[in-house]
Amino acid sequence: MTPDDLMFKPGLLNGQRILITGGGTGLGKVMAEGFLMMGAVVYICGRRGGVLEETAKELMAGHGGKVVPVACDIRVPEAIADMLDTVWADGGALTGLVNNAAGNFISRTEDLSPRGFEAISNIVFRGSFFVTLDCGKRWLAEGKTGAVTSILTTWVWNGGPFTVPSAMSKAGLNIMTQSLAVEWGGRGIRFNAIAPGPFPTEGAWARLNPADSNSEPSGSSKSAPGNPMGRVGRMPELANLAIYLFAPGSEYVNGQTIAIDGAAHQAGGGGFGRLRDWTDEQWETARAAIQGANARDRSKRTV
Ligand code: HXC
Ligand code: NAP
Repeated sequence: MTPDDLMFKPGLLNGQRILITGGGTGLGKVMAEGFLMMGAVVYICGRRGGVLEETAKELMAGHGGKVVPVACDIRVPEAIADMLDTVWADGGALTGLVNNAAGNFISRTEDLSPRGFEAISNIVFRGSFFVTLDCGKRWLAEGKTGAVTSILTTWVWNGGPFTVPSAMSKAGLNIMTQSLAVEWGGRGIRFNAIAPGPFPTEGAWARLNPADSNSEPSGSSKSAPGNPMGRVGRMPELANLAIYLFAPGSEYVNGQTIAIDGAAHQAGGGGFGRLRDWTDEQWETARAAIQGANARDRSKRTV
């Protein structure tokens, strides 16, 4: 991104220290870049240590500042505690957390095994809650303020056919946002969420549009037929919204989930209901392609 992509002046987030789970790729990476450009120190975590290192190097080479990669699997509460010990020891309390890490794939629900459900819910639902809980306990014990933004989907409002474990988990985080906004709001910790529509990232496209994906989001998918605005989201649009939610002056915004989807969900879209007509063969092809992407990514994990 260039400064012209962002609507805010550099320095807006000076003094902030923000952790983005899953910050090495996709939407997490673009938020990391945006926060960095606004002056924050940014921590990014994920399971592929090499991917995190590359992202941190690339962003600091482009913009200066400080991006710290910390390899961590958020499915493991002890690993979260170790990561947060490292972050706190590096310069004090975080001022912000973005729950962005996720796993997802399209599947007929009747084809899911218990492990398939847990592969997603253990990252999105349990993992995000445990990171939030550990940060919250530290902020409360130290009397510090904090802001949490969770990255959800519009499926929290109209359901997620063929992505049921993700939709259920994101809906849980939506309720966490609303509940903790009330429980901890008066103690200086506020909670909001962003519900993006389609933003073409490699990780999402490999698992949600596998027939249409090689290693990169395909050009044809970027047109988003059925979206009232006729297009997918642009990365800086997401970064601008995320920056706003951490910026001084947005403090009274608490307990909100904000869609950024071109009004796709109001138009009845945003999910995968159209896959109702897929044949067994189409599902088998999709599953093989997704599991190929899963295996490729797994081979790079360092934790
Ligand atoms: C059915 C599947 C499957 C598929 C995997 N499984 N893919 N079942 N259909 N397509 C099953 C496996 O068979 C296995 O169950 C179980 O899931 C665990 O699989 P693993 O590959 O061992 O899991 P793991 O290594 O833990 O990887 C987790 C993952 C993977 C979620 C499966 O995709 C991942 O790491 N994803 C991270 C990145 C990601 O998903 N990004 C997309 C975010 S997009 P059995 O019983 O066979 O052992 C998003 C929202 C987008 O979240 C919204 C767009 C509008
Ligand atoms: P992505 O690039 O695949 O991002 C997911 C990130 O989560 C990866 O960096 C991954 O890194 C990390 N992650 C997964 N499991 C983890 C674990 N156990 N511990 C730590 N990190 C883990 O996909 P994306 O499209 O940018 O998605 C980012 C967020 O946006 C997700 O919450 C997704 O649900 C949401 N979203 C995306 C879209 C879209 O259209 N792209 C739409 C709506 C919502 P490792 O594999 O290295 O761990």
